[in-house]
Amino acid sequence: MLLVSGNGRTEAMMSAPRSDLPLEGRVALVTGAARGIGRGIALGLADAGADVVLADLDHDPGALSYELSGKTQLDATTAEVAARGPGQALGIGCDVTRADQVESLVRSVCERLGGIDVLVNNAGVVHFAPLVEIEEERWDQVFAVNVKGAYLVCRAAIPSLVERQGCIVNIASVAGKRGYPLGSLYCASKFAVVGLTQSLAAELGPQGVRVNAICPGILATHMWTHHLASEERGGSAAYEGAVAASIPLGRAQTPEDIADAVRYLALAPNVTGVSLNVAGGMEVW
Ligand SMILES: NC(=O)c1ccc[n+]([C@@H]2O[C@H](COP(=O)([O-])OP(=O)(O)OC[C@H]3O[C@@H](n4cnc5c(N)ncnc54)[C@H](O)[C@@H]3O)[C@@H](O)[C@H]2O)c1
Repeated sequence: MLLVSGNGRTEAMMSAPRSDLPLEGRVALVTGAARGIGRGIALGLADAGADVVLADLDHDPGALSYELSGKTQLDATTAEVAARGPGQALGIGCDVTRADQVESLVRSVCERLGGIDVLVNNAGVVHFAPLVEIEEERWDQVFAVNVKGAYLVCRAAIPSLVERQGCIVNIASVAGKRGYPLGSLYCASKFAVVGLTQSLAAELGPQGVRVNAICPGILATHMWTHHLASEERGGSAAYEGAVAASIPLGRAQTPEDIADAVRYLALAPNVTGVSLNVAGGMEVW
């Protein structure tokens, strides 16, 4: 089998991956990959030798209190990932709430790269507010991305994952394990991701597909800098206060921390159904 590498060279794929490139020859699909945690995961998987498909919005629908990614950011991150790895990087515009776009994404990955070995459902949005102030439209929007999006991408990718004995990693949150004030909407959506992970692990285990989740704690991505600790909510002092008050190890997580956990789960043959905290001890179950 021939593989076109990120820098344009054509090379024969080695039958056994090099130990420093344990995902060489594997195809990873990461949603919400244009920035933040998803970008870090895409870079980490490329460093491990995978061909990486980055899926994200190609335009921001503009409905949230903070900005999402668009085509320019997706293209820039795809170029960055392509330059890093020995494998390919493909950027594909996809709104994970739209079944037609998700099906076309998965079809395109399978046609161009042969299938999917590692699916990372990372696309997500946040909204923290008192429950009585949450509009129905906002509730539906957060569930549409965080829960329905993961369902749609899993549904489309499972046939290929079964064929290639692949795995799924869902990016949940510590907010998927306990409730926080103002967090009813976001926490409910992330509890759903943990439930989806456990159920799907039990369902797909007999078919050889592993399903796990990662529960990050606090990272200085858009979610925190433009919403949870926006200027109106106290800015960097609020962010630093949250880190100091809630993380025993005393520092926020980084996208590299989460990428390391994704790589572990992608390569852990006897681990399924876990929701792994990567949160500096912020939650301990
Ligand atoms: N930042 C944190 O502290 C934190 C903590 C725990 C969990 N998480 C989770 O990590 C994941 C990544 O978040 P992040 O912190 O990098 O935030 P982010 O806002 O920087 O990135 C989210 C990405 O998802 C994309 N996205 C949003 N809606 C989409 C849609 N409908 N279709 C496709 N892509 C879409 C955005 O465009 C963006 O690129 C989310 O699931 C989030 O809930 C974040």
